[in-house]
Amino acid sequence: MRVAVPAEIDAVETRVAATPETIKKLIGLGASVTVQSGAGRASGVTDSDYTAAGASLAGSAAETLADADLVLKVRRPAPAELAAYKRGAAVIAIMDPYGHEDDLAAIAGAGLTGFAMEFMPRITRAQVMDVLSSQANLAGYRAVIDGAGEYGRALPMMMTAAGTVPAARIFIMGVGVAGLQAIATARRLGAIVTATDVRPATKEQVESLGAKFVAVEDDEFKQAETAGGYAKEMSADYKAKQAALVASHIARQDIVITTALIPGRPAPRLISADMVHSMRAGSVIIDLAVERGGNCELSKPGETVITDNGVHIVGHLNVPGRLAATASSLYAKNLLAFVETLIDKEAKSLAPKWDDELVKATLLTRDGAIVHQNFLPK
Ligand code: NAI
Repeated sequence: MRVAVPAEIDAVETRVAATPETIKKLIGLGASVTVQSGAGRASGVTDSDYTAAGASLAGSAAETLADADLVLKVRRPAPAELAAYKRGAAVIAIMDPYGHEDDLAAIAGAGLTGFAMEFMPRITRAQVMDVLSSQANLAGYRAVIDGAGEYGRALPMMMTAAGTVPAARIFIMGVGVAGLQAIATARRLGAIVTATDVRPATKEQVESLGAKFVAVEDDEFKQAETAGGYAKEMSADYKAKQAALVASHIARQDIVITTALIPGRPAPRLISADMVHSMRAGSVIIDLAVERGGNCELSKPGETVITDNGVHIVGHLNVPGRLAATASSLYAKNLLAFVETLIDKEAKSLAPKWDDELVKATLLTRDGAIVHQNFLPK
């Protein structure tokens, strides 16, 4: 079983899909592993770290991929990359397939068995494979660090001989995995933290982390969580009440971190231009939803916008990749745990069990066709 780890080609991708630690384990499972030279550079992993772990190096993507049965990637392979893949090979990545159906068709057309890690069911057995959680947790942490870096004042209260510095007020909007880590990080740095969400279960979580919960808690709020634990799209009436509450709260905040998402939908718009204009000069908004349309009306993907009234709106792309070494090490472990379930340990070969719920949930393409129910022709 030959496993390939090509370098990522997307300009904002700093992560890599395998680390020396996971490569040793793959070799222990009977694989031979080829890594493209330089693939780990942005994550602080050198070619010699990989060879010391037992991998072979290849100079180009084509040499890396030649004869590979399994390809480990961070991002979906672009159509231009596919010519180098062997027909019938499996590829595992964060496929980000919605809105990229042509790329999906190209992956199917190249005869690849494609798995989307982000479709992994959130069940106990698959927690170790949950890339959404491993990466969102880091994004939540990094959002606070980025916010602190952008903010021209201190976060904790400081009593000095020259005067008292007040604690910064940080407001977290959306308290899933990223938001919870943002609360914990902001609290550790000494900020006064408030948070909001539409799912009632988050109230207790917010309070248990020592932050104050701010939300419109009406009847709709009490039913806002789906059976899968995600948020629903809220009614126009709820959104208006939520906006009124947020508008008065946000004007007094120093740093606002937004993480709100709804599966399969554009990110909810939570901060209007008027709200931004009500904030004082030097305050900061970190929009973690910027790649999904943004929670703030004025955020721009990949840019830091400074408004006329001096508010800094940060729209970093690939926030987990801003902690590339940690993000890669956790992502690589998520992948390894899934790969272990795809291997026949006796035959030391790739043998997915097509009726396993993890395989069924993540399998996008097989035998030249798109097979995932969410992408079948209507
Ligand atoms: P997500 O990334 O889909 O969304 C982030 C947050 O935004 C959510 O908390 C959501 O309720 C919130 N949101 C959506 N619309 C909003 C609005 N209009 N205003 C304010 N907030 C809004 O969520 P994530 O982080 O993927 O977590 C989703 C659920 O999955 C949670 O219940 C979490 O506890 C659960 N989970 C379960 C795991 C497991 O059992 N293995 C692992 C990780 C998460």
